[in-house]
Amino acid sequence: MISKVQTEQAVFDREPVIPEEKTAISIRKVNAWYGNKQVLFDVNMQIKKHRIMAFIGPSGCGKTTLLRCFNRMNDTIRSFRLEGTIKINDTDITTKQADPISIRRKVGMVFQQPNSFPMSIHRNLKLPITENFPNIDKAKIEQIIKQKLQDANLYDEVKDRINRSALKISGGQQQRLCIARMLTIEPEILLFDEPCSALDPLSTNKIEDLLVRIKEKYTVVIVTHNIEQARRIADDVAFFYEGRIVESGTAENIFLVPQTELLERYLSGKI
Ligand SMILES: Nc1ncnc2c1ncn2[C@@H]1O[C@H](COP(=O)(O)OP(=O)(O)OP(=O)(O)O)[C@@H](O)[C@H]1O
Ligand SMILES: [Mg+2]
Repeated sequence: MISKVQTEQAVFDREPVIPEEKTAISIRKVNAWYGNKQVLFDVNMQIKKHRIMAFIGPSGCGKTTLLRCFNRMNDTIRSFRLEGTIKINDTDITTKQADPISIRRKVGMVFQQPNSFPMSIHRNLKLPITENFPNIDKAKIEQIIKQKLQDANLYDEVKDRINRSALKISGGQQQRLCIARMLTIEPEILLFDEPCSALDPLSTNKIEDLLVRIKEKYTVVIVTHNIEQARRIADDVAFFYEGRIVESGTAENIFLVPQTELLERYLSGKI
């Protein structure tokens, strides 16, 4: 018997065709497993450049797993296996030949808990710059550090204590420092896995503001459990349920005219 999820999936497999040059990530027939347990089923999706894509859905439905595929973070999990293709700039990043280090240069990631390095704010930012651009001159380094702190809405708050420990600033400030640090190496795609779930509303607000501002330069993919956050900032939304994308489309369509009972129930807090 065909389940409701499967019939709903079939409807949404007919995704709109987006011109290649506007696609940041193209996901085709992705299936994934941890050991024998399949956790992603036939995922097809195109993530568009210079927009914010939000992944929503109940806990354990595969949002983080798919997000981590975009910069090969799942490589560290021995039991993980993936089938299908994920293309960034026409290159399938899932193949053995694709180099995870250069993928991570293009695709940065920020996690739920800020992972500031136990060193000064300045050194947190300088390290990735000198590692990635070994011949860069001192003045340029300082210029990038200032620019990225400004881009991350943090410069004014830390400019007087830039040589103090990054661990001494608030959680919200550390999260913005991690964003600034990610921006120093000029990635194209920014991944955020519930970046505000450990933060207060004011810090959340600052991060949402900066995401909306920086999407002009980058492509943003964010996992969030906060439907209101997705409503505030997302341009596009994908709704996951038990490893499948049940619905995806513009935020307007997803929130105003959900096509499936599952999504309706999720949005009204019944799942
Ligand atoms: N390292 C792992 N080893 C084995 N199973 C895993 C691993 N990581 C995740 N899983 C399983 O894969 C499935 C999808 O997990 P995933 O973390 O992608 O879900 P999620 O939608 O991000 O959930 P949440 O909203 O709780 O973060 C779950 O059943 C989870 O238990
Ligand atoms: Mg998750």
